Amino acid sequence: MKLQRVLQYAQTLLSQSIKEGEIAVDATAGNGHDTLFLAQLVGNEGQVFAFDIQQQAVTATMNRLTEHGVLQRAQVILDGHQHISNYVNQEVAGAIFNLGYLPGADHEIVTQGNTTVQAIEQLLSLLKIGGIIILVVYHGHEGGKEERDEVLHYVRSLPQKYVHVLRYEFINQKNDPPFIVALEKVKELPPSE
Ligand SMILES: C[S@@+](CC[C@H](N)C(=O)[O-])C[C@H]1O[C@@H](n2cnc3c(N)ncnc32)[C@H](O)[C@@H]1O
Repeated sequence: MKLQRVLQYAQTLLSQSIKEGEIAVDATAGNGHDTLFLAQLVGNEGQVFAFDIQQQAVTATMNRLTEHGVLQRAQVILDGHQHISNYVNQEVAGAIFNLGYLPGADHEIVTQGNTTVQAIEQLLSLLKIGGIIILVVYHGHEGGKEERDEVLHYVRSLPQKYVHVLRYEFINQKNDPPFIVALEKVKELPPSE
């Protein structure tokens, strides 16, 4: 047997929770690899909302979707994922974040712990029961460890009655390998004060 690699495992979890016709969110569109994967899962009747703060990423994602003939399955939004609830009010089946910077672009434009946590909070209330949020945590870059710690602190505090939180990680790899945090919503969360 072969243990699933981190990115492969992220896709396995998403494909188990997202069905055709549902809504999915790519919180960090980047070059659009995950947006395309989600667009393939939701099919013609579903919709993907993809967010990025860089025009370059929005353009790259739209180009990738166009090349694969699935542009109409997605809305690619030039805005931060901390504003998700301004754009999405439907029930969400699954979401993914790839934390860190866009490969090949400005390494100083990175996701930040506080806005990542705000986005997770909004997604948890939009998520269907049984829906999943995946965080692919890259933490080798400058600021990466601070974001990792802030996000881990938040997800560890989520009550297990409402959310199951998993960490999937190869623990003997060198050079700060990425790991996955997966959040499964098991019960509607009480409204926050
Ligand atoms: C690791 S890359 C994403 C890679 C992408 N999933 C792919 O398939 O190519 C992280 C992306 O997050 C974006 N980003 C940073 N802060 C953000 C925010 N607050 N909201 C949305 N995107 C953000 C960056 O511009 C960058 O493109």
